[in-house]
Amino acid sequence: MQGRERVLADADTLPAPVTVVLDAIARHRATRAPLKQVLAELSARRRLGKTERQVAADALFAWARRRLDLEARIDEAVAGFGGVPPRRRDQDLCAVLAANPGLCDAKLPAPLDALWRTPLAERLPPFVRAQIAHLPDADALEQALLQPAKVGFAVDPSRLTRGEAILALQAQKPGVRPHPLCDTAIESDERIPLGKLPPAVRAAVWPMNPGSQLIAQLAQPPAGEWVLDLCGGGGGKAKLLGALGHRVVVCDIDRDRLQAARARDIPAAVFVLADGTAPPFAPRSFARVLVDAPCTASGTLRHSPDRALRLDAARVDAYSKVQQQLLAQALRLCREDGVVVYATCSLFAAENEEVVTPFVNRGEATAVPLSSLAAGLPAGPAMTLRPDVHGTDGFFVAALRPH
Ligand SMILES: C[S@@+](CC[C@H](N)C(=O)[O-])C[C@H]1O[C@@H](n2cnc3c(N)ncnc32)[C@H](O)[C@@H]1O
Repeated sequence: MQGRERVLADADTLPAPVTVVLDAIARHRATRAPLKQVLAELSARRRLGKTERQVAADALFAWARRRLDLEARIDEAVAGFGGVPPRRRDQDLCAVLAANPGLCDAKLPAPLDALWRTPLAERLPPFVRAQIAHLPDADALEQALLQPAKVGFAVDPSRLTRGEAILALQAQKPGVRPHPLCDTAIESDERIPLGKLPPAVRAAVWPMNPGSQLIAQLAQPPAGEWVLDLCGGGGGKAKLLGALGHRVVVCDIDRDRLQAARARDIPAAVFVLADGTAPPFAPRSFARVLVDAPCTASGTLRHSPDRALRLDAARVDAYSKVQQQLLAQALRLCREDGVVVYATCSLFAAENEEVVTPFVNRGEATAVPLSSLAAGLPAGPAMTLRPDVHGTDGFFVAALRPH
Protein backbone atom coordinates (compact mmCIF):
# COMPACT_ATOMS: atom_id res chain seq x y z
CA MET A 1 0.00 0.00 0.00
CA GLN A 2 2.82 2.36 0.99
CA GLY A 3 4.27 2.32 -2.53
CA ARG A 4 0.94 3.24 -4.11
CA GLU A 5 0.20 6.14 -1.77
CA ARG A 6 0.52 9.60 -3.10
CA VAL A 7 3.45 11.50 -1.54
CA LEU A 8 2.84 15.19 -1.10
CA ALA A 9 5.37 16.51 1.37
CA ASP A 10 9.00 16.33 0.42
CA ALA A 11 10.88 15.95 3.70
CA ASP A 12 13.80 17.98 2.37
CA THR A 13 11.71 21.05 1.76
CA LEU A 14 10.00 21.16 5.17
CA PRO A 15 11.53 23.27 7.96
CA ALA A 16 13.27 21.11 10.59
CA PRO A 17 10.69 21.83 13.36
CA VAL A 18 7.87 20.64 11.08
CA THR A 19 9.73 17.43 10.27
CA VAL A 20 10.25 16.86 13.98
CA VAL A 21 6.54 17.43 14.63
CA LEU A 22 5.61 14.86 11.97
CA ASP A 23 8.11 12.35 13.36
CA ALA A 24 6.78 12.97 16.87
CA ILE A 25 3.21 12.33 15.79
CA ALA A 26 4.23 9.10 14.04
CA ARG A 27 6.24 7.90 17.06
CA HIS A 28 3.46 8.89 19.48
CA ARG A 29 0.94 6.97 17.40
CA ALA A 30 3.15 3.88 17.28
CA THR A 31 4.29 3.85 20.91
CA ARG A 32 1.62 5.87 22.79
CA ALA A 33 4.52 7.63 24.56
CA PRO A 34 3.65 11.15 25.82
CA LEU A 35 4.16 13.88 23.23
CA LYS A 36 6.47 15.87 25.50
CA GLN A 37 8.80 12.88 25.78
CA VAL A 38 8.96 12.04 22.06
CA LEU A 39 9.35 15.71 21.18
CA ALA A 40 12.29 16.12 23.58
CA GLU A 41 14.02 13.03 22.17
CA LEU A 42 13.50 13.97 18.52
CA SER A 43 14.40 17.65 19.02
CA ALA A 44 17.68 16.60 20.63
CA ARG A 45 18.42 14.10 17.86
CA ARG A 46 17.74 16.69 15.16
CA ARG A 47 19.76 19.27 17.15
CA LEU A 48 16.98 21.85 17.07
CA GLY A 49 17.89 25.20 18.63
CA LYS A 50 15.84 26.71 21.45
CA THR A 51 13.59 28.74 19.15
CA GLU A 52 13.03 25.81 16.79
CA ARG A 53 12.14 23.58 19.76
CA GLN A 54 9.57 26.12 20.85
CA VAL A 55 8.10 26.35 17.34
CA ALA A 56 7.87 22.55 17.25
CA ALA A 57 6.31 22.32 20.73
CA ASP A 58 3.71 25.00 20.01
CA ALA A 59 2.79 23.40 16.67
CA LEU A 60 2.59 19.90 18.14
CA PHE A 61 0.40 20.94 21.06
CA ALA A 62 -1.85 23.02 18.82
CA TRP A 63 -2.34 19.83 16.76
CA ALA A 64 -2.95 17.76 19.92
CA ARG A 65 -5.61 20.18 21.19
CA ARG A 66 -7.62 19.81 18.00
CA ARG A 67 -6.69 16.24 17.26
CA LEU A 68 -10.15 14.72 17.60
CA ASP A 69 -11.73 17.16 15.17
CA LEU A 70 -8.78 17.07 12.77
CA GLU A 71 -8.64 13.30 12.56
CA ALA A 72 -12.39 13.02 12.06
CA ARG A 73 -12.23 15.53 9.21
CA ILE A 74 -9.20 13.93 7.63
CA ASP A 75 -10.77 10.46 7.77
CA GLU A 76 -13.82 11.90 6.06
CA ALA A 77 -11.75 13.72 3.44
CA VAL A 78 -9.59 10.66 2.75
CA ALA A 79 -12.67 8.44 2.42
CA GLY A 80 -13.93 10.78 -0.29
CA PHE A 81 -10.54 10.99 -1.99
CA GLY A 82 -10.73 9.67 -5.54
CA GLY A 83 -7.83 7.45 -6.60
CA VAL A 84 -4.78 6.92 -4.40
CA PRO A 85 -5.06 8.45 -0.91
CA PRO A 86 -2.26 10.59 0.48
CA ARG A 87 0.12 8.75 2.75
CA ARG A 88 -0.33 9.00 6.50
CA ARG A 89 2.55 11.46 6.93
CA ASP A 90 0.91 13.86 4.51
CA GLN A 91 -2.40 13.51 6.29
CA ASP A 92 -0.55 14.44 9.47
CA LEU A 93 1.13 17.38 7.72
CA CYS A 94 -2.27 18.54 6.62
CA ALA A 95 -3.59 18.27 10.18
CA VAL A 96 -0.57 20.13 11.59
CA LEU A 97 -1.02 22.93 9.07
CA ALA A 98 -4.73 23.09 9.75
CA ALA A 99 -3.99 23.54 13.44
CA ASN A 100 -1.16 26.02 12.77
CA PRO A 101 -2.04 28.28 9.84
CA GLY A 102 1.06 29.89 8.34
CA LEU A 103 3.50 27.40 9.87
CA CYS A 104 5.06 26.64 6.49
CA ASP A 105 4.24 26.42 2.79
CA ALA A 106 3.21 22.98 1.62
CA LYS A 107 0.98 22.07 -1.26
CA LEU A 108 -1.81 19.76 -0.32
CA PRO A 109 -4.54 18.58 -2.67
CA ALA A 110 -8.25 19.24 -2.33
CA PRO A 111 -10.20 18.15 -0.37
CA LEU A 112 -7.46 18.07 2.29
CA ASP A 113 -6.48 21.67 1.64
CA ALA A 114 -9.99 22.82 2.55
CA LEU A 115 -9.48 21.67 6.11
CA TRP A 116 -8.10 24.90 7.39
CA ARG A 117 -10.69 27.09 5.78
CA THR A 118 -13.35 25.96 8.25
CA PRO A 119 -12.79 26.81 11.92
CA LEU A 120 -11.89 23.77 13.95
CA ALA A 121 -13.97 22.69 16.90
CA GLU A 122 -11.94 22.57 20.06
CA ARG A 123 -13.33 19.84 22.25
CA LEU A 124 -11.99 17.60 24.96
CA PRO A 125 -12.56 13.86 24.59
CA PRO A 126 -16.05 12.76 25.75
CA PHE A 127 -14.68 10.93 28.82
CA VAL A 128 -12.97 14.08 30.08
CA ARG A 129 -16.00 16.24 29.32
CA ALA A 130 -18.21 13.91 31.34
CA GLN A 131 -15.80 14.06 34.28
CA ILE A 132 -15.90 17.87 34.48
CA ALA A 133 -19.62 18.21 33.72
CA HIS A 134 -20.46 18.53 37.45
CA LEU A 135 -18.59 21.84 37.67
CA PRO A 136 -20.40 25.15 37.02
CA ASP A 137 -19.86 26.62 33.53
CA ALA A 138 -18.30 23.39 32.34
CA ASP A 139 -18.24 24.65 28.72
CA ALA A 140 -16.15 27.68 29.64
CA LEU A 141 -13.84 25.43 31.64
CA GLU A 142 -13.48 23.04 28.70
CA GLN A 143 -12.56 25.89 26.36
CA ALA A 144 -10.04 27.28 28.83
CA LEU A 145 -8.39 23.86 29.19
CA LEU A 146 -7.91 23.82 25.42
CA GLN A 147 -5.98 27.10 25.30
CA PRO A 148 -2.24 27.47 25.80
CA ALA A 149 -1.37 28.57 29.34
CA LYS A 150 0.23 31.79 30.46
CA VAL A 151 3.49 31.37 32.32
CA GLY A 152 3.59 31.51 36.12
CA PHE A 153 6.56 32.34 38.31
CA ALA A 154 7.13 32.27 42.06
CA VAL A 155 9.38 34.69 43.87
CA ASP A 156 11.34 33.90 47.04
CA PRO A 157 10.36 36.86 49.27
CA SER A 158 13.47 36.42 51.42
CA ARG A 159 15.63 37.28 48.40
CA LEU A 160 13.58 39.77 46.36
CA THR A 161 10.28 41.60 46.59
CA ARG A 162 7.64 40.68 44.04
CA GLY A 163 7.86 44.21 42.62
CA GLU A 164 11.62 43.88 42.10
CA ALA A 165 11.17 40.50 40.46
CA ILE A 166 8.49 41.88 38.13
CA LEU A 167 10.72 44.78 37.07
CA ALA A 168 13.55 42.36 36.28
CA LEU A 169 11.24 40.10 34.24
CA GLN A 170 9.71 43.08 32.43
CA ALA A 171 13.21 44.00 31.26
CA GLN A 172 13.10 40.72 29.28
CA LYS A 173 9.47 40.75 28.07
CA PRO A 174 6.47 43.03 28.46
CA GLY A 175 3.25 41.52 29.77
CA VAL A 176 4.52 40.57 33.24
CA ARG A 177 2.27 41.31 36.21
CA PRO A 178 1.46 40.15 39.74
CA HIS A 179 -1.01 37.28 39.88
CA PRO A 180 -3.85 38.08 42.28
CA LEU A 181 -4.14 34.59 43.78
CA CYS A 182 -1.24 34.92 46.20
CA ASP A 183 1.54 37.30 47.14
CA THR A 184 4.43 35.27 45.68
CA ALA A 185 2.85 34.74 42.26
CA ILE A 186 3.75 36.44 38.96
CA GLU A 187 2.18 35.89 35.56
CA SER A 188 3.71 36.48 32.13
CA ASP A 189 2.04 36.40 28.73
CA GLU A 190 5.20 34.93 27.23
CA ARG A 191 7.93 32.53 28.25
CA ILE A 192 10.96 34.27 29.69
CA PRO A 193 14.42 32.71 29.43
CA LEU A 194 15.50 32.86 33.07
CA GLY A 195 19.11 32.21 32.07
CA LYS A 196 19.37 35.77 30.81
CA LEU A 197 18.38 37.32 34.15
CA PRO A 198 20.95 38.70 36.61
CA PRO A 199 22.14 35.96 39.06
CA ALA A 200 20.34 37.55 42.05
CA VAL A 201 17.02 37.40 40.18
CA ARG A 202 17.71 33.91 38.85
CA ALA A 203 18.24 32.72 42.40
CA ALA A 204 14.94 34.21 43.56
CA VAL A 205 12.50 33.42 40.72
CA TRP A 206 11.41 30.08 39.31
CA PRO A 207 8.53 28.83 37.12
CA MET A 208 5.55 27.74 39.22
CA ASN A 209 1.84 27.89 38.59
CA PRO A 210 0.04 30.35 40.92
CA GLY A 211 -2.40 27.59 41.89
CA SER A 212 0.48 25.43 43.14
CA GLN A 213 1.73 28.41 45.09
CA LEU A 214 -1.59 28.91 46.83
CA ILE A 215 -1.67 25.23 47.84
CA ALA A 216 1.85 25.45 49.27
CA GLN A 217 0.91 28.61 51.17
CA LEU A 218 -2.13 26.89 52.69
CA ALA A 219 0.16 24.18 54.09
CA GLN A 220 2.37 26.63 56.02
CA PRO A 221 2.87 25.41 59.60
CA PRO A 222 2.93 27.71 62.64
CA ALA A 223 6.38 29.29 63.17
CA GLY A 224 9.04 26.76 64.13
CA GLU A 225 6.91 23.67 63.33
CA TRP A 226 7.53 21.09 60.62
CA VAL A 227 5.30 20.44 57.63
CA LEU A 228 5.25 16.96 56.13
CA ASP A 229 5.01 17.04 52.34
CA LEU A 230 3.87 13.44 51.92
CA CYS A 231 4.08 13.36 48.11
CA GLY A 232 6.77 16.00 47.77
CA GLY A 233 8.74 14.63 44.80
CA GLY A 234 9.87 17.30 42.37
CA GLY A 235 9.94 19.71 45.28
CA GLY A 236 7.87 22.55 43.79
CA LYS A 237 5.71 23.20 46.83
CA ALA A 238 8.49 22.28 49.26
CA LYS A 239 10.69 24.90 47.63
CA LEU A 240 8.14 27.62 48.20
CA LEU A 241 7.51 26.46 51.77
CA GLY A 242 11.28 26.61 52.37
CA ALA A 243 11.47 30.07 50.80
CA LEU A 244 8.72 31.19 53.18
CA GLY A 245 10.94 30.12 56.08
CA HIS A 246 9.38 26.77 56.98
CA ARG A 247 10.96 23.43 57.83
CA VAL A 248 9.81 20.68 55.48
CA VAL A 249 10.00 16.89 55.50
CA VAL A 250 9.84 15.96 51.82
CA CYS A 251 8.65 12.37 51.34
CA ASP A 252 8.10 10.57 48.05
CA ILE A 253 7.99 7.02 46.72
CA ASP A 254 9.96 7.89 43.59
CA ARG A 255 13.74 8.06 43.99
CA ASP A 256 14.29 10.25 40.91
CA ARG A 257 11.62 12.74 41.84
CA LEU A 258 12.97 12.96 45.38
CA GLN A 259 16.43 13.52 43.93
CA ALA A 260 15.01 16.38 41.85
CA ALA A 261 13.57 17.91 45.03
CA ARG A 262 16.91 17.52 46.78
CA ALA A 263 18.60 19.42 43.94
CA ARG A 264 16.34 22.44 44.47
CA ASP A 265 18.35 23.86 47.31
CA ILE A 266 15.53 23.99 49.86
CA PRO A 267 16.67 25.39 53.22
CA ALA A 268 15.80 23.31 56.31
CA ALA A 269 14.47 20.29 54.40
CA VAL A 270 14.77 16.59 55.16
CA PHE A 271 14.21 14.06 52.38
CA VAL A 272 12.64 10.64 52.98
CA LEU A 273 12.23 7.97 50.33
CA ALA A 274 9.09 6.12 51.42
CA ASP A 275 5.64 4.95 50.42
CA GLY A 276 3.17 7.50 51.75
CA THR A 277 0.55 4.76 52.14
CA ALA A 278 2.84 3.15 54.76
CA PRO A 279 4.88 6.11 56.01
CA PRO A 280 7.75 5.68 58.53
CA PHE A 281 6.59 8.48 60.89
CA ALA A 282 4.97 8.37 64.31
CA PRO A 283 1.25 9.20 64.55
CA ARG A 284 0.37 12.81 65.43
CA SER A 285 3.87 14.10 64.57
CA PHE A 286 3.16 17.05 62.32
CA ALA A 287 1.35 20.38 62.64
CA ARG A 288 0.69 20.37 58.90
CA VAL A 289 0.58 17.54 56.39
CA LEU A 290 0.36 18.30 52.70
CA VAL A 291 -0.98 15.55 50.44
CA ASP A 292 -0.17 16.77 46.95
CA ALA A 293 -1.60 13.56 45.64
CA PRO A 294 -0.64 11.68 42.48
CA CYS A 295 -3.52 12.19 40.08
CA THR A 296 -4.65 12.21 36.46
CA ALA A 297 -3.41 15.83 36.17
CA SER A 298 -6.59 16.60 34.25
CA GLY A 299 -6.27 20.22 35.38
CA THR A 300 -3.01 20.65 33.46
CA LEU A 301 -4.22 19.68 29.99
CA ARG A 302 -3.17 23.13 28.75
CA HIS A 303 0.44 21.95 29.09
CA SER A 304 0.03 18.33 27.91
CA PRO A 305 -3.06 18.16 25.68
CA ASP A 306 -2.33 14.59 24.57
CA ARG A 307 -2.89 13.40 28.13
CA ALA A 308 -6.63 13.94 27.64
CA LEU A 309 -6.76 10.97 25.29
CA ARG A 310 -5.03 8.66 27.77
CA LEU A 311 -7.51 9.21 30.59
CA ASP A 312 -10.09 6.54 31.31
CA ALA A 313 -12.19 5.18 34.16
CA ALA A 314 -9.63 2.54 35.18
CA ARG A 315 -6.92 5.18 35.55
CA VAL A 316 -9.16 7.47 37.59
CA ASP A 317 -10.19 4.59 39.80
CA ALA A 318 -6.58 3.55 40.43
CA TYR A 319 -5.63 7.10 41.43
CA SER A 320 -8.69 7.45 43.62
CA LYS A 321 -7.74 4.35 45.64
CA VAL A 322 -4.17 5.59 46.30
CA GLN A 323 -5.47 9.07 47.11
CA GLN A 324 -7.78 7.65 49.80
CA GLN A 325 -4.91 5.67 51.32
CA LEU A 326 -2.62 8.70 51.33
CA LEU A 327 -5.25 10.91 52.93
CA ALA A 328 -5.93 8.29 55.62
CA GLN A 329 -2.23 8.24 56.50
CA ALA A 330 -1.98 12.03 56.45
CA LEU A 331 -4.81 12.26 58.98
CA ARG A 332 -3.03 9.68 61.18
CA LEU A 333 0.24 11.65 61.09
CA CYS A 334 -1.32 15.05 61.72
CA ARG A 335 -1.61 16.45 65.25
CA GLU A 336 -5.13 16.83 66.61
CA ASP A 337 -4.80 20.62 66.46
CA GLY A 338 -3.13 20.45 63.04
CA VAL A 339 -4.34 20.66 59.46
CA VAL A 340 -4.12 18.27 56.53
CA VAL A 341 -4.12 20.01 53.16
CA TYR A 342 -5.26 17.62 50.42
CA ALA A 343 -4.67 18.77 46.84
CA THR A 344 -4.68 17.47 43.30
CA CYS A 345 -4.15 19.07 39.91
CA SER A 346 -7.24 17.22 38.73
CA LEU A 347 -10.77 18.50 38.16
CA PHE A 348 -12.44 15.10 38.46
CA ALA A 349 -14.80 14.63 41.44
CA ALA A 350 -13.61 11.03 41.86
CA GLU A 351 -10.16 12.32 42.81
CA ASN A 352 -11.35 15.31 44.79
CA GLU A 353 -14.68 15.67 46.61
CA GLU A 354 -15.33 11.92 46.46
CA VAL A 355 -11.98 11.23 48.15
CA VAL A 356 -12.33 13.84 50.90
CA THR A 357 -16.04 13.81 51.80
CA PRO A 358 -16.22 10.17 53.03
CA PHE A 359 -13.60 10.95 55.73
CA VAL A 360 -15.83 13.75 57.03
CA ASN A 361 -18.99 11.66 56.72
CA ARG A 362 -17.40 8.78 58.66
CA GLY A 363 -16.37 11.21 61.41
CA GLU A 364 -12.64 10.65 60.83
CA ALA A 365 -12.00 14.32 60.00
CA THR A 366 -13.55 17.77 60.37
CA ALA A 367 -13.64 20.27 57.54
CA VAL A 368 -11.47 23.35 58.10
CA PRO A 369 -12.58 26.66 56.52
CA LEU A 370 -10.01 27.78 53.94
CA SER A 371 -10.62 31.35 55.10
CA SER A 372 -8.98 30.38 58.41
CA LEU A 373 -5.76 29.51 56.55
CA ALA A 374 -5.43 32.47 54.18
CA ALA A 375 -7.13 35.82 53.76
CA GLY A 376 -9.53 36.23 50.86
CA LEU A 377 -10.39 32.53 50.50
CA PRO A 378 -13.89 31.06 50.74
CA ALA A 379 -15.32 30.02 54.09
CA GLY A 380 -15.86 26.50 52.79
CA PRO A 381 -13.36 23.69 53.39
CA ALA A 382 -12.51 23.13 49.72
CA MET A 383 -12.10 25.01 46.48
CA THR A 384 -11.53 24.30 42.83
CA LEU A 385 -9.06 26.50 40.98
CA ARG A 386 -9.78 26.87 37.27
CA PRO A 387 -8.08 28.40 34.24
CA ASP A 388 -11.24 30.27 33.21
CA VAL A 389 -11.93 31.73 36.67
CA HIS A 390 -8.57 32.05 38.42
CA GLY A 391 -6.14 32.02 35.50
CA THR A 392 -4.40 28.97 36.99
CA ASP A 393 -4.18 25.35 36.02
CA GLY A 394 -7.05 23.28 37.38
CA PHE A 395 -6.56 22.28 41.03
CA PHE A 396 -8.64 21.05 43.93
CA VAL A 397 -7.64 21.84 47.50
CA ALA A 398 -9.32 20.90 50.77
CA ALA A 399 -8.39 21.37 54.42
CA LEU A 400 -9.19 18.81 57.13
CA ARG A 401 -8.46 18.30 60.80
CA PRO A 402 -8.18 14.73 62.16
CA HIS A 403 -10.63 13.49 64.76
C1 LIG B 1 1.57 15.87 42.14
S1 LIG B 1 3.08 15.09 42.29
C2 LIG B 1 3.86 15.99 43.58
C3 LIG B 1 4.43 17.29 43.14
C4 LIG B 1 5.21 18.00 44.21
N1 LIG B 1 4.50 18.07 45.47
C5 LIG B 1 5.59 19.39 43.77
O1 LIG B 1 4.96 20.38 44.20
O2 LIG B 1 6.52 19.51 42.95
C6 LIG B 1 2.65 13.59 43.11
C7 LIG B 1 3.82 12.84 43.67
O3 LIG B 1 3.31 11.71 44.37
C8 LIG B 1 4.30 10.72 44.36
N2 LIG B 1 3.68 9.46 44.80
C9 LIG B 1 2.93 8.59 44.10
N3 LIG B 1 2.54 7.57 44.87
C10 LIG B 1 3.07 7.82 46.11
C11 LIG B 1 3.06 7.11 47.34
N4 LIG B 1 2.39 5.95 47.48
N5 LIG B 1 3.72 7.64 48.37
C12 LIG B 1 4.40 8.81 48.25
N6 LIG B 1 4.47 9.51 47.11
C13 LIG B 1 3.80 9.01 46.05
C14 LIG B 1 4.80 10.78 42.93
O4 LIG B 1 6.07 10.19 42.84
C15 LIG B 1 4.82 12.27 42.66
O5 LIG B 1 6.07 12.81 42.93
